[in-house]
Amino acid sequence: MPVNDPIVAEQTPRADLTIDQKWDLYSREEHEIWNTLYDRQMGVLKGRAAPEHFRGLELLNLNEGGIPDFRRVNEKLMKLTGWQVVTVPGLIPEKEFYDHLANRRFVSGRFIRDGDRLDYLPEPDIFHDVFGHVPLLTQPVFADYMQAYGEGGLRSLQFDAIKRMARLYWYTVEFGLIRSDEGLRIYGAGIVSSRGESIFSLEARSPNRIHFDLERVMRTDYRYDDYQQTYFVIDSYDELMEATAVDFAPLYERLPTLPEFKPSDVQPGDTVYQKGTQEYAMSGGLK
Ligand code: PHE
Ligand code: FE
Repeated sequence: MPVNDPIVAEQTPRADLTIDQKWDLYSREEHEIWNTLYDRQMGVLKGRAAPEHFRGLELLNLNEGGIPDFRRVNEKLMKLTGWQVVTVPGLIPEKEFYDHLANRRFVSGRFIRDGDRLDYLPEPDIFHDVFGHVPLLTQPVFADYMQAYGEGGLRSLQFDAIKRMARLYWYTVEFGLIRSDEGLRIYGAGIVSSRGESIFSLEARSPNRIHFDLERVMRTDYRYDDYQQTYFVIDSYDELMEATAVDFAPLYERLPTLPEFKPSDVQPGDTVYQKGTQEYAMSGGLK
């Protein structure tokens, strides 16, 4: 359940687990926290985030100041790619999550982190969900990928493959890097909404940077409480779309018979851009 948001606590979720954003009930302080985070992140992301991210922020006017009103965002988003943002109380079960994505609805939390703990996130807040995820939903190929992921997620429930799908999401939608003519860029929302990891993921000597491979990713465990030890790199959103367009059923059958990889592993078949020193993780990480 969310961290001290009474507007969330007082609502009974609908059958699809959504609640109302009740935008008019955000306080001045909450809007100011958004603005602080927004300005801070824009400074860091220049030259680091994928160009599509900036384009999405502009298209949706997420730079107007204050926490975005989903009613206004949705009007624009609907026209652009047919996506909507809906509010949920916090993390929701896989089935409901996939079902929203399959129907082009992105679920967002309502609460925003405390002003005195801008870097500490006990669970995704509205800044991560909206600033991090929503801009790329304005881009047609990525928007289609997210829907396909939701449909694939629903299908995966028949295969006992939640872990495989979670890893795919983690290493692409949350922590993916993409190559551009100007160099490596961030597209993963978990990085885009984090000041520290925006720099770490691209510039640190510590993590591995390896080209994306579907099977490799599905066999690789991840860190959920600290910076990643490996980032997977795509050439384009089309690559992501094509790599995942295959039937996953044979994969789901085969993967349990193969060894798993640790978050820090580099494998013989990998296309390696950087073999990390892992010095950050070895010295204890964030702690
Ligand atoms: N192709 C996958 C399947 O057969 C579905 C999927 C598409 C999963 C895109 C993730 C991303 O299940
Ligand atoms: Fe996220």
